[in-house]
Amino acid sequence: MCGIVAYVGGKDCASILVDGLRRLEYRGYDSAGLAVHTGRGVDIVRAVGKLNNLDIALQKTPLKGTTGIGHTRWATHGRPSEANAHPHVAGDIAVVHNGIIENHVALRRALEGKGVRFSSDTDTEIVAHLVDEAVRGGESTLAGAVRAALKQVTGAYAIAVVSSKKPTEIVVAKAESPLVLGFGDGEMLAASDIPALLSHTRDVIFLQDGDMALLSREGVNITKLDGSQVTREKKRIDWSPTQAEKGGYKHFMLKEIHEQPRAIEDTLRGRLDVQAGDVVDEELGITEALAKKINRVYFVACGTSAHSAMAGRYWIEQLARIPSTVEIGSEVRYREPVFTENDLVVAVSQSGETADTLAAVKAAKAQGATILAVANVIDSAIPRASAGALYTHAGPEIGVASTKCFTTQLAALLMLAIGLGRRRGTLSASEARRLVDALSKVPHQMREVLAKADEVRHIAKRHIRARDMLFLGRGTGFPVALEGALKLKEISYIHAEGYAAGEMKHGPIALIDSEMPVVVICPRDVHYEKTLSNLQEVKAREGQLIAIATEGDRDVARMLVPDEAPRSSSWRTSVTQLEPDVSLIEIPSAEPEVLPLLTVIPLQLLAYYMADLKGTDVDQPRNLAKTVTVE
Ligand code: F6R
Repeated sequence: MCGIVAYVGGKDCASILVDGLRRLEYRGYDSAGLAVHTGRGVDIVRAVGKLNNLDIALQKTPLKGTTGIGHTRWATHGRPSEANAHPHVAGDIAVVHNGIIENHVALRRALEGKGVRFSSDTDTEIVAHLVDEAVRGGESTLAGAVRAALKQVTGAYAIAVVSSKKPTEIVVAKAESPLVLGFGDGEMLAASDIPALLSHTRDVIFLQDGDMALLSREGVNITKLDGSQVTREKKRIDWSPTQAEKGGYKHFMLKEIHEQPRAIEDTLRGRLDVQAGDVVDEELGITEALAKKINRVYFVACGTSAHSAMAGRYWIEQLARIPSTVEIGSEVRYREPVFTENDLVVAVSQSGETADTLAAVKAAKAQGATILAVANVIDSAIPRASAGALYTHAGPEIGVASTKCFTTQLAALLMLAIGLGRRRGTLSASEARRLVDALSKVPHQMREVLAKADEVRHIAKRHIRARDMLFLGRGTGFPVALEGALKLKEISYIHAEGYAAGEMKHGPIALIDSEMPVVVICPRDVHYEKTLSNLQEVKAREGQLIAIATEGDRDVARMLVPDEAPRSSSWRTSVTQLEPDVSLIEIPSAEPEVLPLLTVIPLQLLAYYMADLKGTDVDQPRNLAKTVTVE
């Protein structure tokens, strides 16, 4: 999400910066800009849209100089516009920033109270003003001023700062957003990712959270935010440029699957109030009046987003006690549906541009319903057509098959349900605290599941010849089953069906024989006992079972392999392939409401590895488009 490039050395840097930004294009962006020290001061050029527009702007206003910073912006606070594009300026200071400043509302209010005038809607401009304030307050070094500013900031950031008063210095800092330093010959570079550095150097240092660095032609001085010196190991990179773009992963999809813990952290950032047992109002846009007025929640979405909406429906009904329904956009638009002013229509869409979802939104809006968008792309058509937007902050998703956008939608929808429940008085503070706490643990638990990727690959290998597959789940495990089947069919072209496990007896059970792999999602939740019976039914028909269960669940183990489980005390971690036709993938024990965020990960990995082993085009599967703006 966003790209930073910084250069200080002996060469004219504008073209170096633009070239570096081009190599970060895969991260997604909607505007771009440069700040270069021209010898007289820092000049800025910015443009909305692709880097070609920045090129044109630079032809009109060339920037000549050997110290500069560049940025591609993926909008998070404030729509894509030239005013919101980076760099942001305050006094002598220019700043580019990736990430989200969590306490931006309070900081902005405080600065406005001191008479500061803002020229953008961004959280980044706050950093520029804070650095400028420190300079005006007498701080003579750029590093000191940045340090003083960052002490006031909470959140995730990678920043690069230049000053009109310091023609040969750049200060960079990092907390949770990536930043890599590159060592050239008489020059220093910094970037959000390695591809931007590779044509200049392969010698890099990965900054760690809480690091600050002063870059000059002579080299770099790295400190912690408190000013104490640190040494970071220099590494030599031997990746090809394409490998580097994918962070060393073979495909963007695999990279995005592994990005999920970080993406969820970004979705939750600043929105959970663990102490109060609540979610933060301001961002979610759920006022008490709105929460109380709603008598139906109507989700509209397509594809993967419709699956997260289905989970959202379970949560809204359970936690906020509002009757809810989910419909796919293409059906709503031609069904002459009835909406009322007391309906809350939640439009879920990664791209925010899906034509069918947008048409449903317009129909609902015309009948007076309140529209809330749950979207990833800021200021896209669906949020623009809505009264409010709850952004997922997953960052750009390049792989056509949605992965991190699904789980971040789940996190956003669970927060929405908690918020509505609290404001309607249907959810107690202690229950909300349990849920908020459970959500905050998800990134860590996801990392534990992702650590099993190799085991899942092994399982994928065993089923590579399958022609059909079934996915079964109950409760929120049902949309996860649908999502697992969708992932598999869209990238591996293996026919797959997702079913509510309770429906098995009503038809799909006829398909099960020894040739049929069946994935059963059976974590410890309220449906557990019933799903176990389904598992048994599949086993009795010699289906090839892949069970997704809670870590240490001996009942599932006994059921899968009656003789095996009690014999070994360490079987829990050691066994995934229990018998030729039985596999077990364990997920950490978690509160039932957050289980879908964990159980879906093995299914994403299974689909990915099956497709990769078959040799399909994982990132761009045939016939599919990432954004479906036509019917
Ligand atoms: C599947 C997938 C699609 C999208 C669908 C809706 O992996 O990505 O099914 O979920 O096209 O797209 P958005 O969420 O952009 O409205």
